[in-house]
Amino acid sequence: MIDKPPLIIVFGANGFLGRNLCYYLKKENIQFEAITRNASSKLITDFKNWRALLANKRKENPKSNICSINCIAITDQLFCEKNVELVNEINVQFPKKLSEVCKENDILLFHISTDSLFGGYKNENVLWNKDQTVKPLSVYSKSKYESEEVLRKINYGTCIRLSFVGEGRGSNRGLISFLAKAIIDRKNNVEGFTDIYFNPVHLVDFWKSLKNVISTSNFEFNLLQYGVDEALTKFEFLKEVSLDYNLKITPIKLKDRVSEFPITHCQTLKSDITFLKSEMIEKSILSLRNEIKYLKN
Ligand SMILES: NC(=O)c1ccc[n+]([C@@H]2O[C@H](COP(=O)([O-])OP(=O)(O)OC[C@H]3O[C@@H](n4cnc5c(N)ncnc54)[C@H](OP(=O)(O)O)[C@@H]3O)[C@@H](O)[C@H]2O)c1
Repeated sequence: MIDKPPLIIVFGANGFLGRNLCYYLKKENIQFEAITRNASSKLITDFKNWRALLANKRKENPKSNICSINCIAITDQLFCEKNVELVNEINVQFPKKLSEVCKENDILLFHISTDSLFGGYKNENVLWNKDQTVKPLSVYSKSKYESEEVLRKINYGTCIRLSFVGEGRGSNRGLISFLAKAIIDRKNNVEGFTDIYFNPVHLVDFWKSLKNVISTSNFEFNLLQYGVDEALTKFEFLKEVSLDYNLKITPIKLKDRVSEFPITHCQTLKSDITFLKSEMIEKSILSLRNEIKYLKN
């Protein structure tokens, strides 16, 4: 158990989640290290670098609490379908090695999983319990589940299942960034699925809660699900968040689109840590305003 972590190491600091975590850490003056891959490299090929970094951090701070947060993953689902070996290396083997090295060095580990683990079920608008047997469909979803299982086997690290919304902060990722770009580009309409359900957490809330979880976690394997209290469709989310703007959200269904990878239509989680849907929407409206400002500057 730790009181206050003096050092947080963010793996994948250039991605959507990683950028947001680094933004909050900086804003709150919490000591952190941002790990990104070399811009010229497509891969983390040299595992020695980060291994040595963690070992050194432990050596330099023998009595301090150190915490790693793994935000690294290949998230492009189509790319995943076509690059199964690479996906295994980054989405499964990397968390495994990270977990082993964190264990060797008494470093807390938080690993981000996914909300898309129940695609094989037919139900709609269900909040999946974490005891429910998973039925992941795509290469991406399967790899995320395997990453949970390797940590469970090592018995080290907290896996977090969730989806999140918030400002892109330059990552160009997420629904709010997508809306902001459409508004700036004066698009007449964007499409939203009426049959994909999710219950995402706003990143502001996720970060607040994560700080508490970090300060009370121990090192052993744990699985946490995050979500808001009620599911909504992607169409509803886009429509409610963009109400202040002159943007038409056109309803579409999965069957109207040909996808080269299986889509999970019920990306909804019964959460251990619950937030209100209404507050998530309010925060998202504010984030959209901020994201538009960010992208215009
Ligand atoms: N976005 C969501 O709503 C959502 C939903 C469910 C789960 N998740 C999970 O949340 C985590 C963060 O997602 P995100 O949305 O922030 O994803 P993201 O924006 O795609 O970021 C992924 C990060 O992984 C890094 N990465 C990818 N391939 C790599 C490789 N071969 N070598 C080294 N680094 C590599 C990326 O580095 P570069 O920046 O250099 O490309 C980036 O920093 C992931 O585990 C994802 O599965 C996200």
